[in-house]
Amino acid sequence: MPFPPQFLDELRARIRLSDQIGRRVKLTRRGREFVGLCPFHSEKTPSFTVSDDKGFFHCFGCGAHGDVIGFAMQSAHLSFPDAVAQLAAEAGLEVPVATPEERAREQRRAGLLEATEAACGFYERMLRSAEGDAARAYLAGRGLTDETISRFRLGFAPGGNRLGAELTSAEMPESLLIEAGLVRRRDDGGSYDFFRGRVIFPITDHRGRVVAFGGRIIGDGEPKYLNSPDTPLFDKRRTLYGLATARSAAHEKGRIIVTEGYMDVIALAQAGLAEAVAPLGTALTESHLHMLWRLAAEPVLCFDGDPAGARAAVRAAERALPLLAPERSLAFVTLPAGEDPDSLVRAHGPAAIERLVAGARTLAEVIWTTQVEGRDLGTPERLAGLEQRLDDLVSSIADRKVQFRYRAHFRNRLRDLTGWRRRGGGAAAPGAGAPSTLRRGSGKAALDRRREQALLATIINHPALIDEHAEMLAMVEIGDPARAGLFRDAVAACGDDPDIDSERLKNQIIERGNGEALGELLEADIFVHAAFARVDAELDDARAGFREVLAHSLRRMREEEVRLARDNFVNDPSDENWRKMEALQAETVAGSDGIMFPAEHERQRY
Ligand code: UTP
Ligand code: MN
Repeated sequence: MPFPPQFLDELRARIRLSDQIGRRVKLTRRGREFVGLCPFHSEKTPSFTVSDDKGFFHCFGCGAHGDVIGFAMQSAHLSFPDAVAQLAAEAGLEVPVATPEERAREQRRAGLLEATEAACGFYERMLRSAEGDAARAYLAGRGLTDETISRFRLGFAPGGNRLGAELTSAEMPESLLIEAGLVRRRDDGGSYDFFRGRVIFPITDHRGRVVAFGGRIIGDGEPKYLNSPDTPLFDKRRTLYGLATARSAAHEKGRIIVTEGYMDVIALAQAGLAEAVAPLGTALTESHLHMLWRLAAEPVLCFDGDPAGARAAVRAAERALPLLAPERSLAFVTLPAGEDPDSLVRAHGPAAIERLVAGARTLAEVIWTTQVEGRDLGTPERLAGLEQRLDDLVSSIADRKVQFRYRAHFRNRLRDLTGWRRRGGGAAAPGAGAPSTLRRGSGKAALDRRREQALLATIINHPALIDEHAEMLAMVEIGDPARAGLFRDAVAACGDDPDIDSERLKNQIIERGNGEALGELLEADIFVHAAFARVDAELDDARAGFREVLAHSLRRMREEEVRLARDNFVNDPSDENWRKMEALQAETVAGSDGIMFPAEHERQRY
């Protein structure tokens, strides 16, 4: 019986690690930690450290590592339960005893696992027997090697009630086989095997223990696949096919590929892409997503290149939105129509999959395209509708930072869509045909745009300002995509060469392909409004004007964040959202607006 996690936490909290270890090892305090001679290998100079804060010991010599329970296990060679029992006794804690129900449930699970494991062995044997000829030929015809067949423990279920007849015994009563989903009872009291005349795909839990099966008909017929019913061992909404085998490859490569079916997982693994899993005929659930995120930051989901596949992708994207977090998203691959990963990798090898993965779309892209593609957005009302839908989707993102980024991202794309004035052809989006009032935007938007222009013109004419204000500039978001590119170029060029002068900076921007945006910017009537931006302005004047504009932009962004926090609190008045809103407001009120420029002496260097 596993110990309840709260109990283990309580135990770890009760015992000070340095006291416990100090009884066997002479420890010397060094800062917040202790050091001593490692008890797990022989050494003359201490490389064994103990941190009470972290609750861990670590030896830099031999790599021994663990918490208080680990120390008891390793130093006294105790099993985990024995170590826990001993520490609990010392700490005066009562070890929670399993209730009879819990113990009974554990025992039942153990019995079921024995049954599924025995069934797996039976199906494997059957595949290798004469009765398995057709199944073996079928698998060979699908390109699977013997090694792959063994690795995935594929099998064959013969007809009749052979499994029931073979496995039923005093230790493994028929009722157990029924509960494991392997045998069915007929109305007349007789029984029959659940899987008959099918190729068998064992399904394992995350530890690799067989918990259920999928069975494919040999050749054509209905239903193509039959899966075990949910049992105390198997909940298909919390199981991913291939997880146990994919885990180490996924960790190694930092990547996990999610396909639709058994055969995809197996074919990819055989082609050297072991980091593949599949749900079991259901859409991806929240549990699935959490399981995937433990393996990689951006699981790659593969979808069929047909309307059903596109719908499934959107469903997955929308399901993931509320759960997004910094460095936690999804990537989307659309397969060529009529292909699946199995057929692709068999015809074109793993490189075909690599190419698709390299071109995967982001989650933000999938959401955007779904809302925009194929729609006529040529009226203000329709654009407002689009804005509304995007807003609703973004509001479902629970993480504040990610939500903020998504809002900014879609806002920029909307602005792009409604047509920033561009040379040579205008925006390609449906909004291009919209009336010019829409394109020019409201007074406030025009003002924002002018500020943006002034900011850019100033740093391009006075690049020294970039280096001085690098950190603050990193927070600035430029709305217009062409100018955003120009801004990135300028910051990058200055990063390469902090002493770059205006002429060379302009050349670099042109070389990087943003000459058009640069020309447009420098021709703009911005210099009428902002003389400090001119190339012949004194640096001190340029700096003063620039700082005013920069502070304004940053303040606007801060206001947006506060507004977002308020919306969040109104929509979901939880304590947590209240605290976030308060914190942001406090930051904003305290110390003017929290915007601090580098002090005078700091920029003497320049
Ligand atoms: P597909 O119909 O895409 O089949 O089902 P596939 O994986 O390409 O199979 P092959 O290549 O023809 O052998 C994808 C997944 O949907 C579930 C299974 O988990 C399957 O792997 N499924 C499909 C069922 O559960 N039942 C079915 O009848 C069909
Ligand atoms: Mn297939």
